[in-house]
Amino acid sequence: MAEVLVTGGAGYIGAHCCVTMIRAGLRPIIFDNFSNSSMVVIDRIAELTGLRPAIVHGDVRDKAALDQAFKAHAPAAVIHFAAYKSVAESVADPLAYYDNNLGGTLCLLDAMRRHGTRMLVFSSSATVYGEPESVSLREDAPCRPVSPYGRSKHMAEHVLEDLERSEPGWRIARLRYFNPVGAHESGRIGENPRGIPNNLVPFMAQVAMGQRTHLSVFGNDYPTPDGTGVRDYIHVMDLAEGHLAALRYLQDADRSLTVNLGTGRGVSVMEMIRAFERASGRPIPHVAAPRRPGDIAQYYADPALANQLLGWKAHRSVDEMCADAWRWQLNNPEGYE
Ligand code: NAD
Ligand code: WQD
Repeated sequence: MAEVLVTGGAGYIGAHCCVTMIRAGLRPIIFDNFSNSSMVVIDRIAELTGLRPAIVHGDVRDKAALDQAFKAHAPAAVIHFAAYKSVAESVADPLAYYDNNLGGTLCLLDAMRRHGTRMLVFSSSATVYGEPESVSLREDAPCRPVSPYGRSKHMAEHVLEDLERSEPGWRIARLRYFNPVGAHESGRIGENPRGIPNNLVPFMAQVAMGQRTHLSVFGNDYPTPDGTGVRDYIHVMDLAEGHLAALRYLQDADRSLTVNLGTGRGVSVMEMIRAFERASGRPIPHVAAPRRPGDIAQYYADPALANQLLGWKAHRSVDEMCADAWRWQLNNPEGYE
């Protein structure tokens, strides 16, 4: 069974990916500093899969901790999730974002090179595109990220391209995720935001639970069918399966790639509210609020390249995303704590 080092593997997307990998016969080694995750997730992964992943408690900016992980294990590949991910936080503290997201990636690449592991799946984001020229985004669309967070991901993509050019032998998948939502269907692992959620689905889930009084709909006068923002929400388990497909591609096709992971379908805030009301059987009180600074009216993925190269497609519906997010919220109202 091949070992794969998964940085940030205890986080939201990482944990779901670990479950999918174990089910496919791979052995994830979770490398995490637990700055935004809980050790409880490890118990849940073990419960769901029957395999307790090895843990290395460490920071990706810590060379010694990485060396320890590479010496103790011999990973065939690395999936690099570890990063900060809040756009607003990145505007307030850009240095922290460049340090962790870019600095962490550089430190990891250096360790990979020293230990002879040259296969990497990198968590990028649709946020690298910035204000889009067309609502359906292909990978060759211009990248003009507007936040330090988006720029940290775009810069890391460039670093990876330069590295491949200078050292043939690297195999790198840059995966640009759209809006990951939902949870494992068991309701045992899911998104665990600290404090007030920034993102739509975790916020709605807390409103449905009665933990928050209402949802603010940021903007209802966008040039979209119902005036609210449109995004490409993708079920986190579809996203996890995309990582598995990317690992297989790196191994079998022996080439690098940059692809969107999305559904290709735009869904508005109002449509998400209705879907969550159906899933939970509860009303989601909501009020119109001003547009959120920096928000874009609408965009979604053109996932054709990922479909073609990876043989992968997101197939879970918006109703499944909401039903699974709701099951997680209902069973874990305080997250993992
Ligand atoms: P998350 O915060 O739940 O997971 C990140 C994990 O990385 C956490 O367990 C955290 O403790 C760990 N971590 C952070 N900095 C670290 C460091 N220096 N060393 C070791 N561990 C560290 O976030 P997520 O939603 O699972 O996102 C995973 C990746 O996907 C990130 O790179 C993020 O930028 C990217 N991404 C996320 C989204 C999204 O909406 N969730 C969208 C696009 C891209
Ligand atoms: C979705 C829609 C909001 C909250 C962010 C990052 C992006 C990526 C995914 C990491 C928008 C509206 C939201 C609320 C609302 N992350 N909304 N009320 O902004 O598309 O993407 O997460 O890479 O980089 O920017 O996601 O879930 O915050 O918002 O009306 O309380 O919901 O305006 O239209 P976003 P989101």
